[in-house]
Amino acid sequence: MHFRLFAEEVYTQRRKSLMESMQSGILLFLGNEEVGMNYADNTYPFRQDSTFLYYFGIDIPGLAAIIDADAQQTILFGDDISLDGVIWTGPLPTMAYMADQVGISKTASISELAGYLSNKKNIQYLPPYRAVNQIKLSSLLNQPLGKIKENFSLKLIKAVIGQRSFKSALELTEMEAACDISADMHLAAMQYAKPGMKEYEVAAQVRKVAYEQGGALAYPIILTVNGETLHNHYHGNTLAPGHLLLIDAGAENDLHYAGDLTRTFPVSSKYSEQQKDIYNLVIKMMDNAIDALKPGITYKEVHGIAAKTLIGGMLDLGILKGNAEEAFQNDVHTLFFQHGLGHMIGLDVHDMEDLGELHVGYEEGTQKSKAFGWKSLRLARTLQTGMTFTVEPGIYFIPTLIDRWYNERKLEQFINYEELLKYKNFSGVRVEDNYVITDTGARKLGKYLPKYLSEIEAIRES
Ligand code: GLY
Ligand code: MN
Ligand code: MN
Repeated sequence: MHFRLFAEEVYTQRRKSLMESMQSGILLFLGNEEVGMNYADNTYPFRQDSTFLYYFGIDIPGLAAIIDADAQQTILFGDDISLDGVIWTGPLPTMAYMADQVGISKTASISELAGYLSNKKNIQYLPPYRAVNQIKLSSLLNQPLGKIKENFSLKLIKAVIGQRSFKSALELTEMEAACDISADMHLAAMQYAKPGMKEYEVAAQVRKVAYEQGGALAYPIILTVNGETLHNHYHGNTLAPGHLLLIDAGAENDLHYAGDLTRTFPVSSKYSEQQKDIYNLVIKMMDNAIDALKPGITYKEVHGIAAKTLIGGMLDLGILKGNAEEAFQNDVHTLFFQHGLGHMIGLDVHDMEDLGELHVGYEEGTQKSKAFGWKSLRLARTLQTGMTFTVEPGIYFIPTLIDRWYNERKLEQFINYEELLKYKNFSGVRVEDNYVITDTGARKLGKYLPKYLSEIEAIRES
């Protein structure tokens, strides 16, 4: 087979746990299909659905599966490869063989799925994020598209999140591998980037390292001298002395576990004095957050620790003034730190976001704040052993945002605008690593990637 799998028992056990928590119902899972880029046969790289990978492992298009929690059995729906398929895309093992590799003894043709479902009650499915699967469900379940988008199973969402949120030792090994490749991508960029290059030349090196190790990108590369734009995908600027280059890039390994790392380094070999102050403050936010990681703390609290560290540092720099706690209560930090401290990571870079950010990142009964800054906090819930997530503080000077606040003299009791305006064209700094909660604290995933200023300057100078 051209894809790797965990041992058969891993998938059998995962499905057994799901059946135990659901107790009843026909649980319907659709795999992903090939998607045409500009015509049907010229496809985007195939990416199997992550939940499908979790329970069934098989990394090819054209599949669906049923976990029948009433009859305690699993059926894999799909067809053996046709002669045309063999000719154009190569031979594949039979469906029966692939099913057996993941502990499934019953297979059926995909054409039998509609008939199988036609007399079933209590069919439960997850929210479909691709239009093709929305249309398929509409046809299979004989419901209009609008209803399909509403009638997904909250119980199934919670059961799946209940499992996928906690990574096994086997999964952690895969995540370490993904983070190792991701670290190599960043180190290559730090060693390669020189003044005069285009951002896309550096992006090409980052991409190369992911692919030469059998990986792929877990998400589009952010690589920019305008790091204040949070998800900047433009790579056409020329690197110049004095610029900071922000790179947010991560690989997924062959089993599709993701890494998500960010570093921000000077295009010159050294950070300027102003860049040093801001960079070291972001590192302090990160280290204070990491020191607080342990089972039982909420990630909202950890986000608060990073935000308060930012305010303390900005008071020292004279950009802020007044009382630190009052500044925090007034959300002054959101002028500089507009996103959340992190998100869950696993088979998806933002793990399980297709199942609903609130269900993944927030405890039942807790509300997500609608306030600027806080509304972008994807992970707020209590951390528990086995959870994997990113720690990614940042400080961004966004000229449009600064102008807006300045024109309103917003929170001027806390902001020294005269000093702030000296940073208006600074750009942004983010640093990001991935962690797992252990019984006593937390452990960084993957090999060490230099993050302290002196370490990065040493690489840039060599
Ligand atoms: N790479 C996107 C993020 O850090 O969330
Ligand atoms: Mn990232
Ligand atoms: Mn991230």
